[in-house]
Amino acid sequence: MNKPWMNAALPVEARIDALLEVMTPAEKIGQTQQVRNINPSHADALRAGSIGSALFASGAWAGNERDGGVRLQALHAMQRVAVEESRLGIPLLYARDVIHGHRTVFPIPLGQAATWSPDLVRAGARIAATEAAAEGLHWTFTPMLDIVRDPRWGRVAESFGEDPHLCGELARAAVRGYQGDDLAHPESIAACAKHFAAYGGAEGGRDYNTVDIGPRSLRDTYLPPFRAAVRAGVATVMASFNEIDGMPVTAHRELLRQTLKENWGFDGLVVSDWNAVAELIAHGVASDRRAAGKLALDAGVDIDMVSNIFLEELAGLVESGDVSASALDDAVRRILRVKFRLGLFEQPMRGHADPDTVFLQAPFRQAARQAAAESLVLLENRDGLLPLRADTKRILLTGPLASADQALFGTWTLDGLAGDVVTLEKALREGLGKDVDLRVKPFVDEALLHARSCDVALVCVGEHPSRGGEANSVVSLELPAGQTEILEALHRIGLPIVAIVIAGRPLDLSRVRSYADAILFAFHPGVEGGHAIADVLLGHHDACGRLPMSFPRHGGQVPLYYNHKSTGRPLPPNQHVHARYADSSDAPLYPFGYGLGYTRFAYGTPRLSAEEIPTDGELRIDIDITNHGDRPGIETVQVYVRDLCASVTRPVRELKSFARVALVPGETRTLAFAIQAADLAFSGPDLRARVEPGEHHLWVAAHALAGEPVAFRLTGPVVYPDPGA
Ligand code: BGC
Repeated sequence: MNKPWMNAALPVEARIDALLEVMTPAEKIGQTQQVRNINPSHADALRAGSIGSALFASGAWAGNERDGGVRLQALHAMQRVAVEESRLGIPLLYARDVIHGHRTVFPIPLGQAATWSPDLVRAGARIAATEAAAEGLHWTFTPMLDIVRDPRWGRVAESFGEDPHLCGELARAAVRGYQGDDLAHPESIAACAKHFAAYGGAEGGRDYNTVDIGPRSLRDTYLPPFRAAVRAGVATVMASFNEIDGMPVTAHRELLRQTLKENWGFDGLVVSDWNAVAELIAHGVASDRRAAGKLALDAGVDIDMVSNIFLEELAGLVESGDVSASALDDAVRRILRVKFRLGLFEQPMRGHADPDTVFLQAPFRQAARQAAAESLVLLENRDGLLPLRADTKRILLTGPLASADQALFGTWTLDGLAGDVVTLEKALREGLGKDVDLRVKPFVDEALLHARSCDVALVCVGEHPSRGGEANSVVSLELPAGQTEILEALHRIGLPIVAIVIAGRPLDLSRVRSYADAILFAFHPGVEGGHAIADVLLGHHDACGRLPMSFPRHGGQVPLYYNHKSTGRPLPPNQHVHARYADSSDAPLYPFGYGLGYTRFAYGTPRLSAEEIPTDGELRIDIDITNHGDRPGIETVQVYVRDLCASVTRPVRELKSFARVALVPGETRTLAFAIQAADLAFSGPDLRARVEPGEHHLWVAAHALAGEPVAFRLTGPVVYPDPGA
């Protein structure tokens, strides 16, 4: 057979046209079929062209269940059947959830967000891609871009936090890291922006639950990070499990076909979530599998992850005219486009001859160590307890996570190995002088006994990863049973206490704060977590992480987020006398953007390029930041804006820009920010994105509740900056 689609000199679209011309309906449908853990039992289906892609996962809750890992030779063996023994030789696409590192495990995404560093996120994604590609994988289901406001939801661990701007910046960085400049590069893999959309809005934080948000918050809060990922060229998008106001996303034509594909011009593929096409029946919008298949394909789902419904039902649906042949062609075109862009037709046997030599290289570990160190958030540091003084001689290390290895990985670690982890104990022994007496005492009674003769206690408390991730929500945001009591008991002895809280979500640390003198918060920090924590405890690295989510003072406050609305009866800012709760302040315990360091930074007065800027103009802001302390440090400078009066209500503050700056003692640096008027757009009464004239406030501050506002005004007509929104 003449195979013009194999001619790499032709443009991709021409190659797709050539293929579509010769494909039978069954072969087209085969491309939409994704199976789990492909193996020799699938060989006949491969020969018939009825499988388009495969994912490797232990099951529906793969994030919490380990599997045997993937094997390059096994992947190649099945690929060989697809390309050599099927009629058209279309290569398979291999996917796996490589969520925060493959063998070199980085901090969980929420921890990566706490670095506020697109550079670190990009570098981590690149390393993950390099290792995953070496093992023959082509596609990962990450980054997760769900905006999260409720830490009861276990999947906040996988997110970049509560803020659309921060999440969008990190989304761009992650996509660039995984995909590089060229998807066909041997160290690139396709990324997947998920879960599109608003999955994080699950009521009560209960996974998979109903999402009942309005079209304006969908557009202005939940969609922007996805838009950023699409603009960065993300190759694939995953439709989310949830419904939004009555419409399951898997059947949401307006969201998938209209917004994503038509308005935003996304030309990659949309994959369903696990078995989600079939779940349209449980949602109660499809009476049977055939109806589910029609709804999903019509809505714009291109690949059916594991439900087999497209494979079984699409032929009949196309034949009867219930699904148009052009809708099927569109799905297949998108799938083939990703395969061509990955270079799979030229190089179907991707992978490294010896993947083991690629994993955990020294620079990879170093990058993971830096990302983990910069993800740690110092929440309390009474009397400058940290970094530990050089003359500290006897240190007690205790708490349930004191010797954690695999538990440092966090959820969705499918390929990290416990033996690769640097534990905190090991790192402390490396970092402390020989004459320091480190006593590791996991049992409380023993710990209490030793506490009397130690200078300081390092108490590792927090969550085992199995308490978070998919399908693992909690009702209590306090430490798991018994852990606060350990701190309380040690507190009674009277020695200084450092609580090292290792967790997958924001916790209610009110009680911890009353017993610990210092609190160092670590979102599950990954394979180099021990080194990273020791680096910060010992002062070899500044404490520079900043919270990507608000920390409540009580679980009863959630959802709690900084960019809330004013209401008609706003509370006076930063006052605790007034509150909506009879039994608590409304304020978070630690706000979004918060984190201490080992030095002190002073902020000058922001200088604006103009007090008035046109509704299609640009505002530039200069500010002097000075390190007034006696140690070098890294500050994350945050720019927030409020639109004081608009045609619809607007948040009390919104992050619009940020920058990290490293300063030595006494050093002052002028930071320059630029905000486009278009960055201030929001969905107006007609739901179109618009920029309105009017008064605004701007803060350049260390966190979402800090700083003094300066005023500026947008002038001119209402502008509609984005026809696609
Ligand atoms: C999760 C996705 C994941 C998929 C494949 C689903 O249960 O929601 O995030 O990518 O499984 O493992």
